[in-house]
Amino acid sequence: MDNLIRLQYLEAMGIDVWMPRVSSHVGQSLSFDVEPDADNVEHESSESVQTSWDILQAEVASCTKCALCETRTQTVFGTGNKIANWMIIGEAPGQHEDEQGKPFVGKAGLLLTEMLRAVGLDRDEVFITNILKCRPPGNRDPKPDEAESCSEYLRQQRALLKPKIILAVGRIAAQTLLNTDAPLSKLRGKVHELDGTPLVVVYHPAYLLRSLLEKRKAWQDLLLAVRTVR
Ligand code: URA
Repeated sequence: MDNLIRLQYLEAMGIDVWMPRVSSHVGQSLSFDVEPDADNVEHESSESVQTSWDILQAEVASCTKCALCETRTQTVFGTGNKIANWMIIGEAPGQHEDEQGKPFVGKAGLLLTEMLRAVGLDRDEVFITNILKCRPPGNRDPKPDEAESCSEYLRQQRALLKPKIILAVGRIAAQTLLNTDAPLSKLRGKVHELDGTPLVVVYHPAYLLRSLLEKRKAWQDLLLAVRTVR
């Protein structure tokens, strides 16, 4: 899409455009490892890995492990680059995601896309998914048994992708992945580890849409992730 039109769309939807202000914030360039590394490229060429992704996606599509299968329109497996260095994990599909079968495509998704763009990442370069692969009715928080039912799918996605960094988007994703009930304010601002992979917690874009004062902290968290993966 033409850049001007994109900006006009975003403005009309009340979404601020995130621009990197690198020199004033950190005094360093935002060049970092977006390109998949050699290991991951070999990884991609492996037919068996692609087959494993296909099998997993088909398994998710027909999942009936919890009651959410009765209310979903379709599952939302995840989208993006299957040899990405960055894995972005949100909470659960909302209405738009449930309708389109893709994660983060609503208003919060547009802001997430802008946040990634601000640190030089295109949506297609990263892999985006959620803790839950089905929409909870009314967008309520995931129940523990639903997260538990879905956890094996996410574990397998992580194992296939082997990301260099995981971005946990929002409180629910962070608490579920890190198995804690600590508040987001305590979880953000540091580099955690999940089975050997660095994990950085960022504010959920839906929260940022309501509380733009936190935008600066969200920007700092993104830069922390960039520095970690570099
Ligand atoms: N919020 C999320 O956490 N995930 C989505 O896919 C959409 C909105």
